[in-house]
Amino acid sequence: MNIGILGTGHYLPTNVVTNNDLEKIVDTNDEWIRTRTGIKERRLATDEVDTSDMAFHAALGALEEANLKAEDIDLILVATVTPNTSFPSVACIIQDQLGAKNAAAMDVSAACAGFMYGLITAKQFIDTGAYKHVLVVGADKLSKITDWSDRTTCVLFGDGAGAAVVGEVSDGKGILSFELGANGAGGKELYLNHDDHIIMNGREVYKFAVRQMPDSTIKVIEQLGLSRDDVDYLVPHQANIRIMEAARERLGISEDKMAKSIEKFGNNSSASIPMALSEAVKEGKIKDNDLIVLVGFGGGLTWGAVALRWGK
Ligand code: ACO
Repeated sequence: MNIGILGTGHYLPTNVVTNNDLEKIVDTNDEWIRTRTGIKERRLATDEVDTSDMAFHAALGALEEANLKAEDIDLILVATVTPNTSFPSVACIIQDQLGAKNAAAMDVSAACAGFMYGLITAKQFIDTGAYKHVLVVGADKLSKITDWSDRTTCVLFGDGAGAAVVGEVSDGKGILSFELGANGAGGKELYLNHDDHIIMNGREVYKFAVRQMPDSTIKVIEQLGLSRDDVDYLVPHQANIRIMEAARERLGISEDKMAKSIEKFGNNSSASIPMALSEAVKEGKIKDNDLIVLVGFGGGLTWGAVALRWGK
């Protein structure tokens, strides 16, 4: 069976926070943030908007694009490191809001690689014949775990959600290869401390990511016996433009073939890949039969990559 993405959606909070706005709260400047990270602005959700609200809106968009009703969904997987509370899961909250009464629901915890873990988990349930349609959401309100007095992290993150409906697609299309991985020994480089703040060893995470993103990307292409030239579009985790560029350069693909939402949205953790994917679809940057690679890494440490042929 060929399993792929039937529809995508994303949600962005309306509140735009620029680098100049951050200059007012920490000792930083627009030039430093832009040149080190590629970020110009990010969206931050207000107090009234929690992770489930963003996940809900992204899910609605994905269902609409897939031309499916909430009742058609058999399983909801929400990748997040910022659930409203530790339970009920965000997946259960949106199951109720959507009216997806036939769906089982659970959250997936793999930090910024969470959407990749969700996507591959969805594929397994469909492959076995257990389920037909799985809704996979990546949603994070990182602003609530950001230490707004720490300039080394607070300039990096933003809030948002992205979603995809996964199901059967026609021959030759859909997910063709994947890689998932983890290295628990690296957990100390990026974690949530007891004050509920993100702690990051930026240099170590950078070194890991700059190696992992290109390696995973190349691995999923080589599994198919294809070459780098065959890749039509790359959707990397939007963590830092320099890390993304390293992956792009090793693949030898042109700039216009890589999703680059980091400039406007910052790093949205598990939401960044599905948000960038959904945006690229809406902007017509991804076309039927394109070979797409989605690749991410995150706290854990975790990583994942998928090669898929776009279309239903
Ligand atoms: N504004 C101005 N100066 C700053 C800022 C800031 N916001 N932050 C740090 N600096 C200073 C530092 O204090 C340091 O000053 P010093 O030389 O006087 O000590 C100087 O800038 C250089 O700091 P570095 O940490 O060496 O800067 P670097 O070039 O490594 O960039 C960065 C830091 C952007 C965090 C980089 O290491 C990085 O991108 N790492 C990966 C981050 C990442 O991808 N995280 C997310 C992955 S998982 C997830 O998505 C949740």
